[in-house]
Amino acid sequence: MIIANWKANGDIESNKIWCNQLISRMSDKGFKSIGIAPSYIHFNQIKNMLKNNGIEIGFQDIDIEGGARTGSISPSMAADSECSFCLIGHSERREIFNDDNDTISKKYKMLAKHHIKPVLCIGESFEDFQAGKTEKKLQTQIEECIQGNILSENLIIAYEPVWAIGTGNTPKPKDVNTIHEFIKDVVQSATENNIVPQVLYGGSVNKNNAADFFVQQNIDGALIGGASLNADIFSDIIDIYRRLRER
Ligand code: 13P
Repeated sequence: MIIANWKANGDIESNKIWCNQLISRMSDKGFKSIGIAPSYIHFNQIKNMLKNNGIEIGFQDIDIEGGARTGSISPSMAADSECSFCLIGHSERREIFNDDNDTISKKYKMLAKHHIKPVLCIGESFEDFQAGKTEKKLQTQIEECIQGNILSENLIIAYEPVWAIGTGNTPKPKDVNTIHEFIKDVVQSATENNIVPQVLYGGSVNKNNAADFFVQQNIDGALIGGASLNADIFSDIIDIYRRLRER
C-alpha cells in the first residue's frame, strides 16, 4: 500500500486540483492500494472527490476517547466519518504532542474496537541509530504499543526512522529490508494468531529512490510525506510500486 500523509498541509482549492490530477493519472489503471490521510478538516472533501474510486481515506491520528477533551477527534467520530485507516504513533505526534507508547496502545485499542485499520508508526532517533540500538528501540515500541491488544490481520506497521523524515537522508534499502523482516518477526512472536503485518517504509521517499525500496522483498509499500503533496510525483511513485510489487 502507498499512503500519502499530508500532515498539516492542503487547502480546498489545491486539494481539488490534486484530486483531479490523481484521477486523470490513475483512472485507466485503477486505484487499488492507495491511501490518503488529509487533515481532519479536509477529510470529507477528499472522501467525496475520491471515495467512489475505492481509494482509502484515513486520519493522521485519533484521541483515546471522546467527551470533555477540547480540540480532540474521538474514535467514534472517526468511525462515523467512515475513516478507513488511521495513523498512530507518528514521530511528530510523539515529539510535539508527547504521545508515549502507553497512549498509542490505548489509541490502538480504540481503532480495533471501531474496526478502523491501524497504521502503527515506529522509528528510531539518529542517536539510537548511531548507537546501534535501532532494533531494540523498535521492539520496545512494538511491544508496548500492541500490549494487551488483540491484533487483526489488517494491521499495518510503518517504519519511519526519525532522522529520515523530511531530511532527504535515508537508510540503505537493503538495511530497511532487514529491519522490516525483524519487525515482522517481532509482531508474529507477539501474537497468538501469528499475524505478519504489511510493513511500509517512510522517510524521504521520492520518485528517484522509490524503486530501490520496492525491489526489497519485505518493503510492502510506503508512507509518504513531502513527495505526496504533488499529485504527479505521488502518481509516479504509485506506478513504480505497481510495476515492481503487483505483478
Ligand atoms: P517525508 O516523506 O516528507 O520524509 O515524510 C515522511 C513521513 O513522515 C510520512 O509519515
